[in-house]
Amino acid sequence: MPERDEPMPPVISRRDFVAATGLAACAMAAAGAGVVLADFLRPRVLFEPPTAFLAGPPDAIEVGSVVTHVEQRVYVIRLAEGFRALSAVCTHLGCITRFQPDRNIIACPCHGSQFTLAGDVVTGPAPRALRWLQMSLSEKGELIVDTAVEVPAGTTYRF
Ligand code: FES
Repeated sequence: MPERDEPMPPVISRRDFVAATGLAACAMAAAGAGVVLADFLRPRVLFEPPTAFLAGPPDAIEVGSVVTHVEQRVYVIRLAEGFRALSAVCTHLGCITRFQPDRNIIACPCHGSQFTLAGDVVTGPAPRALRWLQMSLSEKGELIVDTAVEVPAGTTYRF
């Protein structure tokens, strides 16, 4: 049996309990709305790498040579008539092709498609030619290839 001098626990009325519970619920709802609002206001921007890249000075590429830009998946080809840039992505299922200098062809290691240096399909399941890409010259005189801009086959650049 408790002694009479022992302190009594604080008593909270039903009204105070309901009010406190309601206040807590409102605070939680406001916090949730704040999170949703902050997420809504955050800009939806995808930061992707630039599609154009510097491919070096034109004079560094000899006539009749093919320079492979592995990271960008592009061939820069210089022939007597000028420069061209071809995508190295196979038009069959997207494997990365390889230039074979001994045979002067571009070959896909996945299913055997082969392409000429004009990008035309020689053999294999590739449904169409390799993409020709836009080239330009930077202010400093370097070649620029834009992998996002396709140009008509046969587009040759003289710099
Ligand atoms: S992905 Fe190149 S031949 Fe299939």
